Amino acid sequence: MPNVLAPSIRTWLTEVYGLRYPIIGAPMFLVSYEELAIAVSEAGGLGTIPLPNYRDVEALKQALAVIRRATHEPVGVNIHLSGRFEWRAQLAACLDAGVGFFITSLGDPRKIMDDVHASGGRVFPDVVSLSQGLKSRDAGADGLVAVGAGAGGHGGTVPIPVLVPYLLAETGLPVIAAGGISTGAQMAAALALGACGVVVGTRLIATPEARASAAYKAAVIAAGPEDIVFSDRITGNGANWIRQSIERVAQSPEIGSRRWRDIWSAGQSVAQVARLLPAGEIVQEMARTYGEACAALRRTLPEDNPQT
Ligand SMILES: Cc1cc2nc3c(=O)[nH]c(=O)nc-3n(C[C@H](O)[C@H](O)[C@H](O)COP(=O)(O)O)c2cc1C
Repeated sequence: MPNVLAPSIRTWLTEVYGLRYPIIGAPMFLVSYEELAIAVSEAGGLGTIPLPNYRDVEALKQALAVIRRATHEPVGVNIHLSGRFEWRAQLAACLDAGVGFFITSLGDPRKIMDDVHASGGRVFPDVVSLSQGLKSRDAGADGLVAVGAGAGGHGGTVPIPVLVPYLLAETGLPVIAAGGISTGAQMAAALALGACGVVVGTRLIATPEARASAAYKAAVIAAGPEDIVFSDRITGNGANWIRQSIERVAQSPEIGSRRWRDIWSAGQSVAQVARLLPAGEIVQEMARTYGEACAALRRTLPEDNPQT
């Protein structure tokens, strides 16, 4: 990492979590484990892990202990509340380890709200629509993760420039933008829309810290946005996939099957992923180019540009 850090960026999210940058390393199934979360949090963002990555609560406790030994910075988790996982025991393990940032998906966020709030944490459900946003608000959510069109994983269908201001205006909750954000200029666009932070997934697959295979990382680097297909064929819900990886799949593997390792999800921002870089360098580069993008915008205003 460079000796001189990019200047900090201040939003509601950075203030409440004490972050240097409003950059959340996405929880990614079979990709984001301890190493990636630690690298993002140590670089000034907020690293996360998805709890389904851990086969049981004991494995999760060990992972949280590894994270706690490596960093004192905040980290977050994605907890699935569908009932397929032991979410009560998972929640207790996370709260014991001091986790204060919860992204919920698949299930009613009310299940964890009181316990998380009692320990000083906050809950941010993944939402793709206004109806999900309003339900989350009524459930007591502290903010929303707006998952836009083109996002890696289970993406939505409404693009971020529409979804973020829509959710902000209609729910009044803080909104974090997820989907298609891999560069500082894209982060500047999201913050200009009113987002208090961004979730970066696809770009962080092409890092040494991600536990994706070398072939998967190479495919993310090689792919263009036209290679990303939105399909509900694999999981039953619409998600974005690298075309070549799902063309090989006749039917969805069993839960827990190793074959999932060869089914590669990624978002359209593969367009901005040109090479493998350490996650900390990506956070720094995004923060630096965010500053450049803001400066370029300022030059478009007549009062800051006497020649026009
Ligand atoms: C391979 C992959 C796996 C993902 N798995 C999860 C997951 O388990 N839980 C979750 O909340 N989001 C998951 N996501 C979505 C991300 O958290 C995030 O919303 C998304 O990657 C942001 O869009 P981007 O990929 O365009 O940066 C996944 C995304 C990818 C690319």
